This record gives sequence, C-alpha cells and structure tokens, in this order.
Amino acid sequence: MAAKPPTVETQVDSFGAAPHERPVPRISIHAFCEFPDTGAALQRAGADRRLSKAHLQVQLGGVNAAIEHYTGQITPNLLIVETKLDGKDALGELDRLAEVCDPATKVIVVGRVNDVELYRELMRRGASEYLVAPLEPLQLIEVISGLYLDPGATPIGRVVAVVGARGGSGSSTISHNIGWCIAEELHINTTIVDLDLAFGTVGLDFNDEASQGVADALAAPERLDDVLLDRLLLKRGDHLSLFTAPAALERDYDSVPESYEAVIDAVRQTTPCVILDIPHGWHPWIRNTLLAADDVVIVATPDLTSLRNAKNIIELVKNARPNDKPPRLVINQVGMPKRPEIPSKDFAETMGIDPAAIIAFDPQLFGQAANNGQMVIELSPKAPVSEALRRLCRALTGRTTGNDRGSASIFSFLKGKKQA
Ligand SMILES: Nc1ncnc2c1ncn2[C@@H]1O[C@H](COP(=O)(O)OP(=O)(O)OP(=O)(O)O)[C@@H](O)[C@H]1O
Ligand SMILES: [Mg+2]
Repeated sequence: MAAKPPTVETQVDSFGAAPHERPVPRISIHAFCEFPDTGAALQRAGADRRLSKAHLQVQLGGVNAAIEHYTGQITPNLLIVETKLDGKDALGELDRLAEVCDPATKVIVVGRVNDVELYRELMRRGASEYLVAPLEPLQLIEVISGLYLDPGATPIGRVVAVVGARGGSGSSTISHNIGWCIAEELHINTTIVDLDLAFGTVGLDFNDEASQGVADALAAPERLDDVLLDRLLLKRGDHLSLFTAPAALERDYDSVPESYEAVIDAVRQTTPCVILDIPHGWHPWIRNTLLAADDVVIVATPDLTSLRNAKNIIELVKNARPNDKPPRLVINQVGMPKRPEIPSKDFAETMGIDPAAIIAFDPQLFGQAANNGQMVIELSPKAPVSEALRRLCRALTGRTTGNDRGSASIFSFLKGKKQA
C-alpha cells in the first residue's frame, strides 16, 4: 500500500529547507580527484546556488597531488581528496596528508570501495566524511552543508519566489493567496515579502497599511536582526506575517542585489516558509532572487507574450539550476470571455512543464476579494479557483489540508469549458 502523504497534524514543525537546500557558508574548498566523473560532480555542485558563497577549486591528482601542493602551504577550510587505494594503502596515503594539513581543515575522503572498516578508521583519524564515488551533486551539497551547520541552529525557511511572465498576470494575487493558504490552512508560519517597492499590493490585498518595512530593511540590511525584523513585519493571524512595501514614489529604490539577498536570508532565518512577491521586470536583483530561491513559480496568462516570456524565464532558471526541480507554471486568468487564448495543454506542452495550477478568470470572485481585503479562499472556500490554489500549496509544501478534495486532474475544471 502506498504511504500516506504527511498531513498538517503530523508534520507542521519540521517544515523548512531540506538538508540539501541549506546554503553553504563563505568557505574555501579545494578538491583533488583521481577520476573525471568525481571532478564533474564536484564542478556541478560548485556551480549550484547553494554553494554560490563558497569558493571551490577542483584539480586532478588525488591525495598525492594534495600532499605535494600543501607541503609548506596553508590548507583551505575544506579539503576533498579522492583515493584510488583501499584498506591500509588508503590509510597510509591519508596519514601522509594529515602531516601537511592544518588541524582546522576539514577533510572529506572520496573512495571507490564501500568499506565500513575504512570508514571507521578514517573517522577515528579525524576525517569528516567518507563518500563512495560516483558522487551526486546534491549529496555533496548536503554533506558539505552539514559540516558547517551549527547543530543548535534553528532550521532555515524555504523560499518560494513568485513572478509574472508579463505585467498584470496575477502573480501578486497568486502569491498572496498561496502565502495565506499555507499559513492558515497548513498552519506553517509564513511571511509574504512584497518586493514591488513602488506599487506593491500586499498592504491593499490584506487590508493592512502599506509601510516602509521592506524598503527600510533593504536600505540597511546589516541592521536587520530579529528585533528589528519583528518591528517591521505586520502580523496577520497566528501563522502569517506581511513584509509590506511602501507603495510610494517619493524615494528611489535602487538597492543592490546583495541587499535583497541579505533581507531574504534574514527573513528565512525566522520563518519556515517565505513567499516572495516579485514584480514583473528584469533587473540583476530579480534574476539573482529567482536563481537563489528554493522554488520558483511563474504565473502566466494564456497569451503569446506570456508564452514567450515564460519560456525564456523557465529556460534561464532551468539552465542555471541543473540540480533543482524546474520552475512551477501557473496558468492564470483562463477563460476570459471574448479573449482568444492559447489552450492550456498547448501552452504547457510548449513549456515542456506540466502546470502546477490552472486558474480560471473569475473577475467577480477576485474583484470582490480585492475589495474586501480578503483572499479568494477566505471568501469562497469551495470555489474551483480555491481548490486549484490549495493544490498548488500542496505541491509547494508536500502537505495536505483538511479541505483537500483528492487529486482531480489539473485540467479538470476545463471540462465542459470550450477552450479557444
Ligand atoms: N484569475 C483571475 N481572475 C480574475 N482576475 C484576476 C485573476 N488573477 C488576478 N486577477 C486580477 O488581476 C489584477 C492584476 O493582478 P496582480 O496585481 O496580482 O498582477 P501582477 O502580475 O502582480 O501585476 P504586476 O505586473 O503589476 O505586478 C488584479 O486586479 C487581480 O485581482
Ligand atoms: Mg505584482
């Protein structure tokens, strides 16, 4: 029998970035491999977003090359060495390496044999880990991240970046609704961050005041500790916090990408789920933010401009993140009367991605919700749109809600509806 998916009741506390999703700190890593496949796996891990702060150098030559290189030289924070040898020979080679290795340097040994004795002996001699090749990039990231994570540290949150393929596609509305649903129905503490500084609608959509929150944080990210963050966030209910944008034009918003990164990092230190409402546009900070997120959601309307833009964004994100799942596609405002549309199936086929949600054009529901300062699931919990949003939240979190109605096909609401 298939195992039941985890439910809200059983797994709320453990939500956050998975071990392989935690970024590795700013450390130097040198690797000396024997075989090209190990070198390739290391390079692939090194190009990953989670290792973007670390500095990785890979060269061939194995343990002997490392010994030669470091005789009289300072060793890096982390040394990864591959050995062709096994048993006593491998230990002998690694003992010679230990003589030139600074005590503070951590060492990961890569071997070809699955030998428990060798593993134990290496651990006893102070190695941090013994990995058996062939290596998987994600496994490497997880092991490296584990070596540098303070065991007492609270887990960090998962970052979901939501962006529109074109202006007005509904990405802000979708991001606010999924943030609300994850917080209220899945009971996962969530912060929605409005990154549309000049025109953001988090304040409006939740009937809360817009504030200088995000803009102040971006202006001085180094000051952003827990106390300040707590002051800048607006609480809405037990599980949801809002980081609103000023939505004012008096000041310029020209923070550098590193400031955005620092603010998002600070938020994920305190919240298990972080939803980023990213404005439509293309700036270095938007590109960086999308590439660094744990999940990317692209909201597209079923027209040619969205099709082209979504395809470009999806390809860029996929190419830059070969170790990650592809972005999730949400096709929104489907079935607008009198508007010729690209059918959702064709749209999805062109993207090469199954849509995570298809959301009907429902101006009455969305308009009413906006006017009330409510989310559509609050206003109409049983509407097909609400079901589609819940399904998206379930896909993003891996959790189910009490209101889930099984797993009907994504395309099911289109049945009986003629597509253009
Ligand atoms: N499925 C839908 N049916 C009807 N109206 C919708 C739907 N989705 C969004 N809208 C409406 O479309 C308008 C634009 O939505 P929203 O502000 O979320 O778009 P956006 O992609 O964030 O735009 P921007 O490019 O300005 O950031 C809003 O008035 C919203 O209520
Ligand atoms: Mg928006």
